[in-house]
Amino acid sequence: MLSVKPGEVLDNYKIKKIIAQGAMGSVYKAQDMATGKIVALKIPNEGYDKDLISLQRFRQAEKIGYLLEHENIVKVYNPSRKDSRIPYCTMEYIEGHSLQYEIQRLLRIEVETAIRYTLQMCNVLIYLRHKEIIHHDIKPANILLGENKIIKLTDFGISWSKDLQADTWASLVRVGGTPAYMAPEKVKDHAMDDYRSDIYSVGILMYHLMTGKLPFSGSSTEIINNQLTNNFIPPAKLNPRISSPVEKIIVKAMAFDPVARFQYAAELKENLLAVSREIKPPGGVNGTAGAGIKPTAFFRLAVVIIAVVIVLAWIMLKNR
Ligand SMILES: Nc1ncnc2c1ncn2[C@@H]1O[C@H](COP(=O)(O)OP(=O)(O)OP(=O)(O)O)[C@@H](O)[C@H]1O
Ligand SMILES: [Mg+2]
Repeated sequence: MLSVKPGEVLDNYKIKKIIAQGAMGSVYKAQDMATGKIVALKIPNEGYDKDLISLQRFRQAEKIGYLLEHENIVKVYNPSRKDSRIPYCTMEYIEGHSLQYEIQRLLRIEVETAIRYTLQMCNVLIYLRHKEIIHHDIKPANILLGENKIIKLTDFGISWSKDLQADTWASLVRVGGTPAYMAPEKVKDHAMDDYRSDIYSVGILMYHLMTGKLPFSGSSTEIINNQLTNNFIPPAKLNPRISSPVEKIIVKAMAFDPVARFQYAAELKENLLAVSREIKPPGGVNGTAGAGIKPTAFFRLAVVIIAVVIVLAWIMLKNR
């Protein structure tokens, strides 16, 4: 059950519409009545006060989000007021939709576009490592696609940060995460996972974006068994536009053994930039909008016309 409804006023926010409703909370578009600014509000569903873990996750997302400033992370503006009738978190409103919706809409994402999104995710991971934070829930539903194809990571509800108490995090993570995106070492033993588990999720993200399919699906047991035996369809089999170097990068990022993965997001980024240079004209491969403009039909036609003119001129000159 929703805690608030469109049209209602919560402190100084007027609720405009509901954007998404989850099991634990909902996200709304709202307007700050003092400034007129449009924001997104995340509010726990009714009954939240009886569910301590949900409330902890909510607080964690709010706390970590507030600390972060990055163009590819949804900005959390301010924690809710202490005297508010319900807790809520105020965020930058992203005009757009999630990558989950984008996959459903397009069935799969163009390889070059998927690489651009992944490069932006690498920038996020480099930043998070510097801040000593592991996101732990990287998946298309938690990545928003905003204007100019800029992506924004959100939902730090089960993130680990160095100042978070071990038992609090253990209880958060026990109920969170999506098996298909979860690094195998995290499933086995939460204490064992580290920054490389986010790199694993980015590997799954690349696979999912470029093929429209998940490498491992089914029940949690089926997923872990298939991860163990590396039983997945090579991505290039599902999408022949995935080149061999790109496929190698995907497979390395999602390796079962963390040691076999890219050890740093910066390393993954370097490899992606190298393949981008090969598949695109030089320049504009830094992961932001406008990178790698594809030759248009018009451009190809112009090349053909110029070639024909040169050949005709040559024949005419020869026959003089
Ligand atoms: N700042 C925002 N601006 C616009 N839309 C947003 C924003 N934050 C979230 N959304 C939308 O709401 C959806 C759910 O957001 P979010 O992942 O934060 O909540 P949740 O998935 O319900 O949380 P949880 O994973 O704890 O269940 C997103 O997929 C996106 O469509
Ligand atoms: Mg979410």
